Amino acid sequence: MSINKVSPIWHPMTQHALTDPEIHIDRAKGAYLYTKDGRKIIDAISSWWVITHGHCHSKIADAVKNQADCLEQVIFAGFTHEPAERLAEKLLSITDDALEHVFFSDSGSTSVEVALKMAIGYFEHRKEPKHRIVALEGGYHGDTFGAMAAGSRSIFNKIYEPYLFDVTHLPFPDTGKEQKTLDEFEILLKQGDVAALILEPLVLGADGMQIYTTETLKQLSELCKQYGALLIADEVMTGFGRTGKCFACELAGITPDIMCLSKGVTGGFLPMGVTLCTQDIYMAFYQEDRTKTFFHSTSFTANPLACRAALANLEIWEEEPVLERIAAISKSHANIIERFKVRDDISDIRHIGTILALDVKDTTNGYLSNIGSTLYDFFLKNDILLRPIGNCIYILPPYCISLQDLDLIYNCVEKALDYLHDTDNGNTLI
Ligand SMILES: Cc1ncc(COP(=O)(O)O)c(C=O)c1O
Repeated sequence: MSINKVSPIWHPMTQHALTDPEIHIDRAKGAYLYTKDGRKIIDAISSWWVITHGHCHSKIADAVKNQADCLEQVIFAGFTHEPAERLAEKLLSITDDALEHVFFSDSGSTSVEVALKMAIGYFEHRKEPKHRIVALEGGYHGDTFGAMAAGSRSIFNKIYEPYLFDVTHLPFPDTGKEQKTLDEFEILLKQGDVAALILEPLVLGADGMQIYTTETLKQLSELCKQYGALLIADEVMTGFGRTGKCFACELAGITPDIMCLSKGVTGGFLPMGVTLCTQDIYMAFYQEDRTKTFFHSTSFTANPLACRAALANLEIWEEEPVLERIAAISKSHANIIERFKVRDDISDIRHIGTILALDVKDTTNGYLSNIGSTLYDFFLKNDILLRPIGNCIYILPPYCISLQDLDLIYNCVEKALDYLHDTDNGNTLI
């Protein structure tokens, strides 16, 4: 097969043998991406869920520029710096009081790797025989091996399955079936070997924005406490406002033992991973014994530019009406639901905070469904970046988006559904 490429770059989640050349972006501002050939595209998925306030927010840009003249990077073992120290204090002040220590890395996946290693090491150092990691069916925690192991087995990781460590997956707590999830978890906990439950609180993003209730999350958290298992809240996607509050855990009123943050921690400006944990976990490693050191590092741990970006992001939360913007998006989503509900080509529509998701009726019903790529192309032709997950169309915009642009997006989704309808349900397309 001859290679049909103009660039040597291998892009993520891209089947280069089937896709058009990538769209070249020159610059971005607010909710818009500007292409090299003069188009203006609405970024309706916050560039893979990272951008919170908007692209190129001047406060974050200025903070990074100033930091670049002062300290761009320094080894973080044996050394520290002001942006990291201040950021750690700030993060602890906005998260649950039970979280007292901060470990920096550089992506969502690494924040999860750190969390898993903390949980396993915690029981190992305390000489308690708890090794089992439990997760939710449909969960996604990243693409490094530990994170893949915690995630659901799917098309994303099928060929790597023999290399993934064993994780027990609980059924997703679907509406009306929550008790089954809770019961299965309690049966496992009674065996006494569960080290940790890792979950995406309230929304399973990559599984197509599957939402479950705060009550179920609370009950899962209580079961962890009752049986002495750790709760790892992976807030990589939900963190920094997506569900309506700053953190989904806050919405459910739960206290995780470990919390993973990334994406929105810098407002989406620079890569950063953060894993927060309790004093108890920290103390399991805090011993006059070098073998009990937490052996984990990434070269760019606590990169000063990323820390400054994160500090500027948190200042924006303090200075600008961020929660009001989030509430306005949420209200707009809530208002539109009725318009879509009456359609018979929609099998489900759901909403939490700034996220609106709707499932298009599809017989193939999988990530590789033709409907997803047909819709993706349709939206882009209309200058809107929406990237359906299989047959799930979701909107997850940056908080600066205008209500007019939200209306444009809703209208375009309707037009796309009509288009699918008129073209044999999309199944013969592409
Ligand atoms: C819940 C969750 N955890 C972890 C990750 C992995 O983050 P990253 O892509 O930054 O490694 C993601 C990415 O989408 C995510 O949604």
